[in-house]
Amino acid sequence: MSTEAKLVCRDVWKIFGAGACDAVSSNGGKPDAETLLRAGLVGAVRDVNLEVRTGEIFVIMGLSGSGKSTLVRCLSRLIEPTSGEILFNGENLLSASEKRMIEIRRHQMGMVFQHFALLPHLTVLDNVAFPLEVQGIDRPTREDRARRMVELVGLAGKETAFPRQLSGGQQQRVGIARSLAVEPELWFLDEPFSALDPLIRREMQDEFLRLQSVLKKTIVFITHDFDEAIRLADRIAIMKDGEIVQAGTPEELVLAPATDYVAEFTRNVARSKVVKVASLMKAATAALPATTIRHTASVSEAAPLFATGGDTLGVVDADGQPIGLLRRSDVVDVMMQG
Ligand SMILES: Nc1ncnc2c1ncn2[C@@H]1O[C@H](COP(=O)(O)OP(=O)(O)OP(=O)(O)O)[C@@H](O)[C@H]1O
Ligand SMILES: [Mg+2]
Repeated sequence: MSTEAKLVCRDVWKIFGAGACDAVSSNGGKPDAETLLRAGLVGAVRDVNLEVRTGEIFVIMGLSGSGKSTLVRCLSRLIEPTSGEILFNGENLLSASEKRMIEIRRHQMGMVFQHFALLPHLTVLDNVAFPLEVQGIDRPTREDRARRMVELVGLAGKETAFPRQLSGGQQQRVGIARSLAVEPELWFLDEPFSALDPLIRREMQDEFLRLQSVLKKTIVFITHDFDEAIRLADRIAIMKDGEIVQAGTPEELVLAPATDYVAEFTRNVARSKVVKVASLMKAATAALPATTIRHTASVSEAAPLFATGGDTLGVVDADGQPIGLLRRSDVVDVMMQG
């Protein structure tokens, strides 16, 4: 993952209702919740600032009605923001023509919607190839690429099936394959696994992480499930009433929740799963012990390595270079915190 921004969102507002633009401009660009309420307007997205970095999984999480779907639709201008600025690869999307937006959505963005529909009269293969047909790509090329996508999501052999012959999880995979067929640079997924039962859901999350380790897309993923968020996210933004109340790594949110609302979500999360070795390690003063662990590993991944009896582990960076020591007592402290 790089630190380069793929998508930047500055002071973005989406207010539903008549006179929305006036409500923003006549209140210094930042109407408060009460002003909106009195005017009978819905502040679905309020003053959102965020930056999605190239190659990261950026999760937007919040309760139902907090504005997640509206925000993600604003990012691709499927919903027109009331005000603000959205930069994609540095290009200001809010001043792009409709023709240019269609081109960007068709070629550079992929979307999996919360309640997406497969085309019932098309086979799996034709459903996946559909966005390529819209692009005007010839049949052999699009079927070839669609076949690869169907295989990628684990549905090889189902190419000629119709949606009604598939389970919910399989249909979801077709939707994922379809959104990947255009090989998007920026991939939006709006609660793609919410309708699935817990076991299948976990399987799909694993599958999704496997896909991402191969594809390395820049991803905006929406969920209302904090466990799903910490499993998948490089960084998480938490929304409440249209605002982002905190954005950070799972570790930052769990260790330093900015508000009671964030703390409520993180309360039941095992700290050992999110606290990284890097934040517990001490400087090494002598040669490292023989057993080492990566600084990006979680404390719960480090814990079993103490089973052989040592009191410290060596900590190494991504290149295997020694950078510190991890003490058993520090690991035990975190594990005891639940
Ligand atoms: N077209 C619309 N007109 C008026 N209000 C809307 C419209 N679309 C959404 N809203 C309101 O905006 C707010 C945010 O809705 P949104 O769909 O973005 O929430 P969400 O976080 O995606 O919720 P969920 O988890 O249930 O999908 C809600 O109060 C909703 O009622
Ligand atoms: Mg939604």
